[in-house]
Amino acid sequence: VKWTDEERKVINNIFSNLDYDDIGPKALRRCLVVYPWTQRHFSSFGDLSSPAAIMKNAKVAAHGVKVLHGLDRALKNMDNIKATYTELSILHSEKLHVDPDNFRVLADCLTITIAAKMGDSFTAATQAIFQKFLCVVVSALGRQYH
Ligand code: HEM
Repeated sequence: VKWTDEERKVINNIFSNLDYDDIGPKALRRCLVVYPWTQRHFSSFGDLSSPAAIMKNAKVAAHGVKVLHGLDRALKNMDNIKATYTELSILHSEKLHVDPDNFRVLADCLTITIAAKMGDSFTAATQAIFQKFLCVVVSALGRQYH
């Protein structure tokens, strides 16, 4: 994957203005509410029985922050994203048995959460660049599935 200077700039700009503790929990909560089958992986997290329960679940919030920090690896290794995610791909595939389609739905929830935060400044051009970034991450996370 090749990145233009403009793409690097836009992606770095999004992340440097990102409040991980706000956006991470919101994105994961949204994923669990909108795509309820994703809840099956988080049975050890306690009460997920309703949107309200998910909203106030502290384990969900903490994991959302962790997942968002998982994207730092891509940010810091833009030219080698595939290799960067080998370990996480193996974890999600062989140990957690997460269906790789779910990477895309979580990525979409993250996009919506960031769009809501950034408002008008999240232009179509910005989204296109962010989408490219997430696509590369999602594809890298799915690489160790067979
Ligand atoms: C754990 C990142 C998508 C389920 C993790 C961890 C990271 C991470 C960094 C912690 C690994 C560790 O402790 O060594 C990501 C990223 C994703 C993603 C970057 C996509 C953008 C998903 C999805 C699901 C999922 C879609 C399920 C629907 C889990 C579970 C754990 C985990 C169950 C272990 C949680 C625990 O018991 O602590 N993920 N993840 N992940 N992930 Fe993901």
